[in-house]
Amino acid sequence: MKQIKINGGYPLSGEIQISGAKNSAVALVPASLLSDEIVNIDNIPDISDIDALNEILIYLGAKVSRKGNLMSIDSSTIVNKEIPEEISTKLRASYYFMSALLGKFKKVEMYFPGGCSIGARPIDQTLKAFRILGAKVIERENKYIIEAEELIGNDVYLDMPSVGATINTMLVAVKAKGKTTINNAAREPEIVSVATFLNNMGANIVGAGTNVITINGVEKLKGCFTEVIPDRIEAGTYLIAGALIGKELIIKNIIPSHISSLINKLTEMGIPMEIGKDYIKVSQKSDLNPVKIKTEGYPGFPTDLQQPVTVLLTQCQGSSLLEETIYENRFKNVPYLNDMGANIIIDNNKITVNGITKLHGKTVEATDLRAGASLILAGLKADKITIITSIEHVLRGYENILEKLTNVGAKITIEEI
Ligand code: EPU
Repeated sequence: MKQIKINGGYPLSGEIQISGAKNSAVALVPASLLSDEIVNIDNIPDISDIDALNEILIYLGAKVSRKGNLMSIDSSTIVNKEIPEEISTKLRASYYFMSALLGKFKKVEMYFPGGCSIGARPIDQTLKAFRILGAKVIERENKYIIEAEELIGNDVYLDMPSVGATINTMLVAVKAKGKTTINNAAREPEIVSVATFLNNMGANIVGAGTNVITINGVEKLKGCFTEVIPDRIEAGTYLIAGALIGKELIIKNIIPSHISSLINKLTEMGIPMEIGKDYIKVSQKSDLNPVKIKTEGYPGFPTDLQQPVTVLLTQCQGSSLLEETIYENRFKNVPYLNDMGANIIIDNNKITVNGITKLHGKTVEATDLRAGASLILAGLKADKITIITSIEHVLRGYENILEKLTNVGAKITIEEI
């Protein structure tokens, strides 16, 4: 078990380089097994979710090498089409293997995927798409046995623009016979990155980034090289850190348009920022304006930044309102923030944050990845010492978080307990 200790109140200044996007990399790695040749992916973040995917690839029989942030995957040696329960449940993205194996071998056996406990997170839309494309899906409690004699392109309508279901449908459709159309597709940059990657391998995907994606099946996919896009959620988290306690903190290697919803909210609050082509310089300001935020699919305000931004709302003068529309259970950080001195009231899927409140160091628990990020931000702002337990959740998704924060002046250490 690991915990983080923060001695709060030290201003952050200097540069933070943003890593490759977790939610893009965790899809690109499983997608690579659709190729019959070696695939190289650079800018892969060094996080434990990638280690878990690496483990699955090796279990399946693929050859993997990792040098720094470059990962080479040779899937031509894959023998297993069954992923055991202990590794299926390690992370959410394990289910991208479900669709990649189905797309390539027309057979897969797997268990319900893991991931942060922030809601029920059903996979019905993915299973529906598998069936529409011709697969037979047998569900036995949390085990899925999926087979197809032939995968045939068809029209898929997603009941909600699910990131996972959109990527899974692309992965199955890419080698299916004929044309698949995904209607009400998610539009996140991670989806564009997966489509571009598959197209580089020889796939024929049009419309990624819009809500209608068309895939014309191809027989073979070749090797290719790609680079993971910058992590917009990591960038947003450090941008919020800068807004809380930054002194000309520069967040580098980002695509500002990917976080325009956050930038707009920070501007409404009155945070001074200099926005460059691939960087943002940000400084703290007191007496911020309260705002209203509603989480939505891209390009709306990302649910993954909802918990981090809540900390900043405690520093706005008056009441801010935040509505979570994606997950049923994503306020687990709130009791801990209140314990640290915040005044946040939960009402179903909405919270009211009454500011300005001073934050004080306490011992708190990272119940999930972004809750952990939110508590780290609170600890940086708070006076005295904050201890954050269950920090493994944070290490799943933020590359070198300690080094990055220490380099800009934070007093933060990790302890084994
Ligand atoms: N949903 C269904 N049925 C489905 C699929 C989704 O009801 O078949 C619901 C979910 O329960 C949820 C909503 O639709 O309420 C959106 O879920 P989505 O499928 O878009 O999420 P995901 O693919 O499971 C990815 C990220 C999440 C991020 C969401 C939304 C990965 C591995 N995870 O999850 O990232 O919150 O998209 O942007 O890419 C995180 O990084 O902290 C994280 C949770």
